[in-house]
Parts: sequence; C-alpha cells; structure tokens
Amino acid sequence: DARRSELKAEIKGLLKARNAVMVAHYYTDPEIQALAEETGGCVADSLEMARFGRDAEEQTLIVAGVRFMGETAKILSPEKNVLMPTLEATCSLDLGCPADKFSAFCDQHPDHTVVVYANTSAAVKARADWVVTSSIALEIVEHLDEQGKKIIWGPDRHLGAYIAKQTGADMLMWQGECIVHDEFSAQKLKDMKALYPDAAILVHPESPASVVDMADAVGSTSQLIKASQRMDNDTFIVATDKGIFYKMQQLTPNKTFIEAPTGGNGATCKSCAHCPWMAMNGLEAIKSALTDNASDHAIHVDDALREQALVPLDRMLAFSA
Ligand code: 13P
Ligand code: SF4
Repeated sequence: DARRSELKAEIKGLLKARNAVMVAHYYTDPEIQALAEETGGCVADSLEMARFGRDAEEQTLIVAGVRFMGETAKILSPEKNVLMPTLEATCSLDLGCPADKFSAFCDQHPDHTVVVYANTSAAVKARADWVVTSSIALEIVEHLDEQGKKIIWGPDRHLGAYIAKQTGADMLMWQGECIVHDEFSAQKLKDMKALYPDAAILVHPESPASVVDMADAVGSTSQLIKASQRMDNDTFIVATDKGIFYKMQQLTPNKTFIEAPTGGNGATCKSCAHCPWMAMNGLEAIKSALTDNASDHAIHVDDALREQALVPLDRMLAFSA
C-alpha cells in the first residue's frame, strides 16, 4: 500500500544519506529481503551475513535478523556502527544458554574443545574455542575429530545430534533448541510425503532427528536454497522458517515449495514455522534504527569480551575461507 511504499522510499534515502548498508537474513519478511537487495546490501545465511558485514565499506550496518547476528557483526567490526531494527529480537538458543551456566559446564570438562553455534551471546562465544554456523559445523567438527579432540557442543541439541551422527565425534551436548524447528513433525511429514511422493524434502538441521532422517538434503538456509536450485524435483517440502520461500520462489519460479507440517502428537504449533524474533524486523523499525535514538538500536559489546569472542569467530572464518 501507499504507506509501505513511502516507508521503503524513506529507508532508501536514509541508507544513502547515512552511508549505511542492510544485511538481512532469509527468515525476515520478503519485503525486507527485497529492500536489502535493492539497496546494495545482502540477504544471506548467518555465515555469509558475518562475512558481508565484516567486508562492507559502509561504516553503518543495519542488521535485519536477530541479536546474535548484530553482535557478530560488531565483534568483527568494532569501528562500525551496528544498528538493529530492535534489540529485543533474540533467539531461543541464545536464551537457553546463559554464559555463567555454560561456562560452569565447560569448567567441568577442561579436556574438551568448546564448539558453540553462532546463535549465542558474545559472552558464550568468548568461552569457546570455535564458533560454527550450520553451513560449516560438519566440516569443523570433522576436522576436530580427526585430531582426536573431545568436544563440548552447545547449544542446539538437534544440530549437535546430527553432527555427532555424521562424524562419529565424541560430543557432550548442551540441551538447547530452536522453538521454530523443534516443532516440525516427522509423523505429519510422512503423511504429507504420501500426498506428494515425488517431492524432495529439504531440512534445516535445527530440526528433530526424526525429521532430519527423512531429508533429501540437509543444510543451512543458503545450502537449502542451493539444493532447491540444483535438484530436479518440481516440488519441495521445506522444513525451516517460511521466510526462506521468498528466495526459493524467486530463483526457481516454476517449482512448487510447500511448508513442512508442524505440531506433533495433536499439538498445535506455537511459532508455526516463523520465528517470532525474526518477525520483529519491520519497515517502521528499520526506519527508526536510521532516525531515532541510537541507544534503542546500536549494538555494544564490551571490549574485553569482544577480544575473546573474536578469536573463535576468526577461526571459523579462516577455516571457511
Ligand atoms: P543459517 O542461516 O546459518 O542456516 O541459520 C539459521 C538460523 O538459525 C538463523 O536463525
Ligand atoms: Fe533462533 Fe530459531 Fe529464531 Fe533462528 S529461527 S533465530 S534459531 S529461534
């Protein structure tokens, strides 16, 4: 509508005037993904977002995603002004892994290498030897396992279980989960597959093992999008946040993408395949990040913490280069 077009035009003008660039995740609203692309920013998975933010020439980054993505950008580029549409956009994995408790868990196993998922606070990263995202976790754990390392893994137990199964690595797991992916139901997926026998099943590894086991391709958001382009199937059942459909449909408009079913054992879904925190990234909030009080939007990471968290993050980026 007219108000939305007006808002988008205003945001475009503000981005230019402030020498700012937008970095958006595939789970944000399609209009935000489109805006990021139209204005020379990027829409990406969490590893690519980190790289793009680090390499951007602009001194101001608008990170449309969740808190850990903004913190990662700030850790990698402390000299940049990193703004988020709202600082309230958290993640159940981050919430379920408080730094003091995680650190105590690590202290109990000093002979283990600590590998944490990017979906964590700066303080948890600061306690880690390695940070990983879902696109690179398998390779990094494989590498550590080849060196005979025993691993503490946190916080996503489903991603951890998938990696342990694939690599055979010795992994002690923190018991966290993503509220969105945890709701995908293997039983309902079986019923759906019976209705679409030729469909390929694409699954993000934050989903339960029973769902991952049914997948034709497992991977990060970018890897699932690539799989949807590469595979010959006409129809895909996709177990991840529904924000991803925008890019899949844009890249292959002739293919059909269906949401994987949520809510097992008669339960109704709560998040229904859309992350409530990603959904907080609206046009009004982006405009506010570019105009209103910086304290409501700017990411700050304590200097000492930042230096510690940078080590495992840099390790990941060097490994994946
Ligand atoms: P990726 O984009 O790295 O697959 O991460 C998904 C995610 O958890 C973002 O919330
Ligand atoms: Fe966290 Fe899941 Fe939301 Fe991603 S989709 S931000 S993992 S709660």
